[in-house]
Amino acid sequence: MSTNVTLKERRDKDMVQLPNIFVRGLDRAVILIQGGMGAGVSLACLAGAVAQRGGVGTVSFVALDRFVERRIGRTVGHREAAKLEIEEARRLSMGRGAIAINCMVLIEKTYIPSIEGAIEGGVDIVIAGAGLPMTLPEIVGNAPTALVPIISSGRTLETICRRWSRYGRMPDAVILEGPLAGGHLGFKAEDILKPEFQLESLFGSVKKVAVRNGNFPVIVAGGIFSREDIVHWINAGADGVQIGTRFAATHESGASEDFKRAIVASRAEDIEVAVNPGSPSGMPFRVIRSSPGYVQALAHGRPPCCDKQYLLHKGKDGRMTCLALEGYEAFCICNALLSAADCNNTADLPIFTVGANAARVDRILSVDELVDELTGASP
Ligand SMILES: Cc1cc2nc3c(=O)[nH]c(=O)nc-3n(C[C@H](O)[C@H](O)[C@H](O)COP(=O)(O)O)c2cc1C
Repeated sequence: MSTNVTLKERRDKDMVQLPNIFVRGLDRAVILIQGGMGAGVSLACLAGAVAQRGGVGTVSFVALDRFVERRIGRTVGHREAAKLEIEEARRLSMGRGAIAINCMVLIEKTYIPSIEGAIEGGVDIVIAGAGLPMTLPEIVGNAPTALVPIISSGRTLETICRRWSRYGRMPDAVILEGPLAGGHLGFKAEDILKPEFQLESLFGSVKKVAVRNGNFPVIVAGGIFSREDIVHWINAGADGVQIGTRFAATHESGASEDFKRAIVASRAEDIEVAVNPGSPSGMPFRVIRSSPGYVQALAHGRPPCCDKQYLLHKGKDGRMTCLALEGYEAFCICNALLSAADCNNTADLPIFTVGANAARVDRILSVDELVDELTGASP
C-alpha cells in the first residue's frame, strides 16, 4: 500500500521524500527501490510495474536509445530515449509510487543527455553511481527531482555532501551498495570478502554522515533477498532497501529468457567476480561463470571492438577509445550486455551479471508476486 501523493507534493523544505511501502513485521513504512539494471533489464515495463505497487521503479539509462528504438520503431537520440522511457514507465505506474532513472557517471557520453531527457519526461528521482556524481545538482538545476547517489563508503558520501553544499543541496537519500550486489562493484577486488567492507560494517559510518548532513534516508543494497532481510535492515537503522537480482528474474524484466533461466539454474559456486578478464571500466563485475560471453573471455576469445561505442572516453592523445586500460584484459561489455537483453544486431555472446545471492532464486515470478512476498502481503 502507498499514498497517492506525488513527489512534488511531498517536497518538504529542500528535501524530496521518497514513497513508502508497508512491510509486515515493521511498524513503519519503508522505501523499496527496484535497482537500475543495464543494459535493458530494467526498462519501463519493470519500473512501471514496481511503481504501480508503491515502490520506486528504476529505468536504467544504459543503451536506452537502442531499447526505445526497438519499442517504438524509429531511431532516437539519448535525450529523447530517456524522456520517452520515463513517460512510458509513468503511464504503466498508473500514477503510483515513483519513477527513477539510474545513470552511471563513467558512461560519460550519455550521462548528461539522459538526465536532461529524463527530467523532460518528468522523472521523480535521479539515481547516480559508478563514479562520483559531483555536478549532479548543476545538471538537474531547479527541476523538482530527488537526487540519490549510490556510494560504497561514508567517506565517499562525505565528499559528495561537501561538494553538493556549494549548490545549496544535499542528497534526498543515499544508496549504500555493499559487495554482494550485482553489476559493477565499488570495491577493490581484494576487499570484496573482507569483513570491514561488508554492508554491516559500512552502514554505521554512512548513517553518521547522513545524520550530520540533514538526516536524509539511507537505503541499503546488495544481497537483500527476503522480507526477513528487509525487516533486519530496517531494525538496524536503514530507511529502505534496493533490490536488483530478484527483480531481474521477473516476467517484467528485460533480461533474455536465457538470462532468467541461468539465474534460476545457478548454484552458489557458479557466481564469481570477474576482474581480469573483466569489465572495461576496471571495476569488479559479478557474473554467472557459465555465461557464454564470459566463458569466451576466459579463453581469451573476444577483445572489445567498440562498434556500439557507449564506453568511449577521450584518451591522452585526444582520440576516443574504449575505457579498457592498456595491459588489462577486458571483455566487450556493451555487446555482451546487449545480447543478455536480446537486443544486439551482432551475434555476440551474452554475459549475465547477478548479485551474490542469485543462486537462491528458484523461479521466475511476476512483479506482483515478488512484491507480495517481499512485503508479506501474500497469505
Ligand atoms: C543485471 C543487473 C544489472 C545491473 N546494472 C546496474 C546498472 O546499470 N547501474 C547500477 O547502478 N547498478 C546496476 N546493478 C546493481 C543493482 O541496481 C542493485 O543495486 C544490486 O544488484 C543490488 O544487489 P542484489 O542484486 O543482490 O539485490 C545491476 C544489477 C544487476 C543484477
